[in-house]
This record gives sequence, structure tokens and C-alpha cells, in this order.
Amino acid sequence: MEPIPCFDVVAKYYDEAYGAAADLRDVEMYKSFARRFGGPVLEIGCGTGRILKPIADMGIEIDGIDVSEAMISILKSKIADMRPEPNIYLGDMRRIELARRYRLVTIPFRTLQHMITIEDKLQALAAAKNHLLDSGRLIFDVAFPNYESLASQFGEEYLAAEWRPESNSDRVGRMFFRREGYRQKDQVMIGSLIFRLLDGNNAVHEAIQSLEMHFFSFPEIEALCEAARLEIEEFYGSYDLKPFEENSTQMVFVVKASR
Ligand SMILES: C[S@@+](CC[C@H](N)C(=O)[O-])C[C@H]1O[C@@H](n2cnc3c(N)ncnc32)[C@H](O)[C@@H]1O
Repeated sequence: MEPIPCFDVVAKYYDEAYGAAADLRDVEMYKSFARRFGGPVLEIGCGTGRILKPIADMGIEIDGIDVSEAMISILKSKIADMRPEPNIYLGDMRRIELARRYRLVTIPFRTLQHMITIEDKLQALAAAKNHLLDSGRLIFDVAFPNYESLASQFGEEYLAAEWRPESNSDRVGRMFFRREGYRQKDQVMIGSLIFRLLDGNNAVHEAIQSLEMHFFSFPEIEALCEAARLEIEEFYGSYDLKPFEENSTQMVFVVKASR
């Protein structure tokens, strides 16, 4: 089994950084799926609640599970006054054992890509499936890879987001992404997320989170779903649910348990 990726470094910057990431429009998509399928919802890899909280704000019951204590503690501080308060669990997506069953289980924002081996991926899908009500749906998204760019420009940093920190708006926060390598044999990108706080031109703080992510092909998802006895009901190529095509950048799947 692969080591669990640690999002504890990311946690502190996560909401401001991803709030500023202009091309990230997945929250509306998951809100509309929650509206369409209804609660209760379980979000696997719920992080700081970037998606969970807006769904709870719609009055839909939603629980979450995540492996990072730091991410969860930020989420808990945001929902402490909510009634009913969402149940938030600390745990690994490969080994979820909750008593409740859900109308909708989601694995948003590429979290399934943290599963590296076939065993990891199948365990995660099985755990998600086991928490569905009979009529329930599992919805997840993963990136649709451009293999050429995955295997190039190692060591180069690119700016992924920029924001003015709420705690000190004289400063600028920047999130960079740096690709360190690519393991072709299991389609794993090795990268770093770099967070910098700048005062003028001086970096006053830097935090680096290393990251390994698997990049799925469409047929791999099809084969995994088949093996996990999940039926793909719908699939899309973007967060605004455009058809999946050669130049798509996302893959979004709506699946249900096979009969
Ligand atoms: C990209 S973030 C997504 C967070 C949230 N869903 C969102 O969209 O903002 C991935 C999340 O998955 C969690 N994660 C990674 N590996 C996990 C695992 N094995 N089990 C449960 N959660 C995991 C991380 O801690 C992190 O919070």
C-alpha cells in the first residue's frame, strides 16, 4: 500500500489559494448534482469543505471524510454552528466503514488520483460503493491528461493562483506548481505545490508540499468500474458538463452499482 499523501502543509493556504484559482468551477457542478440527487451526501476527501460547506448551506445533509487532520480542523471551525452539523470523519478513503448509507457519494477535485496502485483504486471505489443507498449514485472527477505536457518542463514553476491574504492584505500569497518528474510505468506525476507569502518582492514565508498523482485514461476508469461492479451512467468532459472529447481537460463520471 502506498503512503498516504499529507495535505497538512496545504491546509493553511488551501481556501485562499483555490478560491483564487480562476479556472476552478467545480463547486457549482457538485451543488447541482446534490440538488438533483438529494441528500444525504458523503464527500470523500472533503478537505476544508470548499465544496461540502456550500452544499450544507443549501440545506442538504452532507457528511465528509478526509485523511488530513489539518484540513478537517479548518472545515470543523467553519461548520461548528450549523444545525444539523455535518458529521466529519478522519479516515482513509480505502477503508471507510460508516454506519450510514448515502443517496450521493462524491470524490471531488481529483482526489481519486491520489490512489496509485490498482489495489488502492479498487479499494477506494469499493468503499465508496459500499456507502451508497440502493438507488444511490457515486460521482467523481479526474483530470484528462495531456501526456506530452505531463512528461515535460520538469523543474519549472508556474503560477497557479495569487491572492491577498485576509490576515494581511499588504502581502501577496502565491501558489506555484512545479513538476518534478513523471513515472511512465504507472502514469504518476511527481510534483510540488509551493506556497509563498510576499512582502513587496521579498518572500517572507515558503511552504512546499510534494505530491504524487496518478493520471487515469478513460479506458482505465471503464475497466476499474467494471471490476468494482459499477456502471457508468453519464460522463462529461468539463465541470460545466460539456461532452467528453479529445481536447477535454476533465473527466466527470456519474456511476451506480451494477445490478
Ligand atoms: C485536492 S483536495 C480536495 C479537497 C476538497 N474535496 C475540495 O474539492 O476542495 C484532496 C483531499 O483528499 C484528501 N485525501 C488524500 N488522500 C486521501 C485518502 N487516502 N483518504 C482520504 N482523503 C484523502 C486530502 O487530505 C485532501 O483534503
